[in-house]
Amino acid sequence: MATVYLNGEFVPAERARVSVNDRGYVFGDGIYEVVRVTEGRVFAWDEHARRMARGLGEVRIDFNASDVAALGGVCERLLDDNGLRTGEATIYLQVTRGAAPRLHYFPPAGTPPGVYAAPSRFTPSREMRERGIAAIVLPDIRWSRCDIKTINLMGAVLGRQAAREAGAYEALLIRDGMLTEGAATNAFVVLGGVARTYPLSNYILPGITRQVVIAAARDAGVHVAEEPVTQQQLLAADEVFIVGTTTDVAPVVTIDGRAVGDGKPGPVTRRVQEAFLARLYGGAHAAR
Ligand SMILES: Cc1ncc(COP(=O)(O)O)c(C=O)c1O
Repeated sequence: MATVYLNGEFVPAERARVSVNDRGYVFGDGIYEVVRVTEGRVFAWDEHARRMARGLGEVRIDFNASDVAALGGVCERLLDDNGLRTGEATIYLQVTRGAAPRLHYFPPAGTPPGVYAAPSRFTPSREMRERGIAAIVLPDIRWSRCDIKTINLMGAVLGRQAAREAGAYEALLIRDGMLTEGAATNAFVVLGGVARTYPLSNYILPGITRQVVIAAARDAGVHVAEEPVTQQQLLAADEVFIVGTTTDVAPVVTIDGRAVGDGKPGPVTRRVQEAFLARLYGGAHAAR
């Protein structure tokens, strides 16, 4: 059985219990991360830790950057205890504002945050990577602090479920006529050879994969512009791809049932995908 970390202890997942008064449970009052692990190494830990510490600071949960840094050691122990030093895995990390009687106001100072970390074996989808995915377009109904990785994921849950019910994997979200991102991924649109993605703002999550992809793509000679794309441009794009910790770089080959370009993963997407996977696997991905 999996060993997880809960509030200072490493316990079998079955014995991990949280209070019904935990504010994560009643308010979605918490911050989370998902990190990727390949051959026992956490990918881009510093970037994830920085984003988590920033998010916790933005919502004023009392868990500072050195507390977040210490979760790096928790991840290492979880990988050991769960036999995840080979192959691939993910680790889910969550910090809530802790347990207190249900009042919207913050709980009394000194209320300990609720801290949880759990690893899982992970197998990336070869099909998604090679053949690509179907997407749908939906209005972006989320709040206006999408830059904070809050555990309150109603917009993503409804978006992903709508995608599934339409036979698709991801929902591409439109706010004010512009593509912002996917329900749980960042999105890139290739127009005239340039890979465009929504600029960092309060309307998207600053994805770690997005950040690595932009650097890797530029190193590979792909022109990347952090510029919004309209819904019309999206639907007339040469290529579209989505990126995320568990999605890697996935070509989008149909949108609302219509082919993107010729309906196959395009050349710019392939170059970016190669460049990203080389960073993720340290150049050893050709064999996968
Ligand atoms: C809304 C949203 N955008 C983008 C991403 C991708 O971020 P990352 O690359 O850090 O996994 C996620 C990941 O969960 C997400 O929820």
